[in-house]
Amino acid sequence: MIAMNYRGPFRVRVDRNKPDPEILHPQDAIVRVTRSCICGSDLHLYHGLVPDTRVGMTFGHEFTGVVEQVGSEVQNLKAGDRVLVPFNIACGSCPFCKQELFGNCHESNPEATAVGGIFGYSHTAGGYDGGQAEYVRVPYADVGPVKIPEWMDLDDAVLLTDVVPTGYQAAEMAGIKKGDTVVVFGAGPIGIMAAKCAWLFGAGRVIIIDELEYRLEFAKNFSQCEAYNFRSMKDPVLFIKKLTGIGADVCIDAVGCEASGNAFHTNHR
Ligand SMILES: NC(=O)c1ccc[n+]([C@@H]2O[C@H](COP(=O)([O-])OP(=O)(O)OC[C@H]3O[C@@H](n4cnc5c(N)ncnc54)[C@H](O)[C@@H]3O)[C@@H](O)[C@H]2O)c1
Ligand SMILES: [Zn+2]
Ligand SMILES: [Zn+2]
Repeated sequence: MIAMNYRGPFRVRVDRNKPDPEILHPQDAIVRVTRSCICGSDLHLYHGLVPDTRVGMTFGHEFTGVVEQVGSEVQNLKAGDRVLVPFNIACGSCPFCKQELFGNCHESNPEATAVGGIFGYSHTAGGYDGGQAEYVRVPYADVGPVKIPEWMDLDDAVLLTDVVPTGYQAAEMAGIKKGDTVVVFGAGPIGIMAAKCAWLFGAGRVIIIDELEYRLEFAKNFSQCEAYNFRSMKDPVLFIKKLTGIGADVCIDAVGCEASGNAFHTNHR
C-alpha cells in the first residue's frame, strides 16, 4: 500500500510498497482510509521532539475509513461500515478504561507509565502505525471506532476524531461561566474549535490571539470571535487587560510546547 514514512526529523517520504496491515488479534479490524488529517501534534513528531519516534513509522491519528475486514471477536462492526476512528487506542475494559480515562489505557500501551496507545504517534504511544496510509490496523475495533451516520459528510466526521473533541474538552475543562471573557491562545484548528465551543458554555466574549494573519482572519469568521496579532502589541497581557477592563476570566492554551518565544520553538517558518 501507499503510506507516509518518517525518515527522521524534518524528513518524510511516500512509501509505495509498505506491506498491507493484517489482522493480528481477533478484536482487530482493517480499515481502508477515506480521509486523513495532519494535526499540529504531527508537527512535534516531524520536528523530532517526541521521544522514540522511529524511522519507518506512519503518522496519522485523525482518520475516517471503511471497514475492510474484522477479526473473529468483533461484534459491532462489519465489512463495508463507514467509521471514524478516535486517536486513542483503548481496550475498553482495563481499570483506566472503566473510568473512561481512555487516553491512559493500560492494555494498549503496557510499557508506558503515563499514556495509552495512539495511532501513528511514536513508540512512546505504543508504536501503532497511523492513518496517513491506504489501510490501518485498528485494535479493539468494538471500542474506539464509531459508525458514521449516512447523512454526515466525511469532512465533518474526520474532525470528530480529535480536533472538535479536543477543542470542546478545553472549553469544558476551563470551567467557563455565563458571561465570562475567554481568551484562546493559538488560532490553529484546536484554538478555533475551543473558541467556537466557548460560546456553547456561555462565554460573553471570546478573543483569540496568534501571530499568523490568515489564521486570525479565519478564526474571526469561523468562531465569531475577536482576533488579535500578538506581534502588533508590546505586551499581550497588558493589551488584554486594557481591552477587557480587568483581564480574562478564562484562558485556554491551544499552542503547546512549540510556542513562539519558547526554547522548543524550532524556527521552522
Ligand atoms: N488531545 C490533545 O491533547 C491534543 C489534540 C490535538 C492537538 N493538541 C496540541 O494542541 C496544540 C494546537 O494544535 P493545532 O493542531 O491547532 O496546532 P497548530 O500548530 O496548527 O496551531 C498552533 C497555533 O499557535 C500559534 N502560536 C505559536 N506560538 C504562539 C504564541 N506564543 N502565542 C499565541 N499563538 C501562538 C501558531 O502560529 C499556530 O497558529 C498543539 O501543541 C498540539 O500538539 C493536543
Ligand atoms: Zn491530532
Ligand atoms: Zn484499557
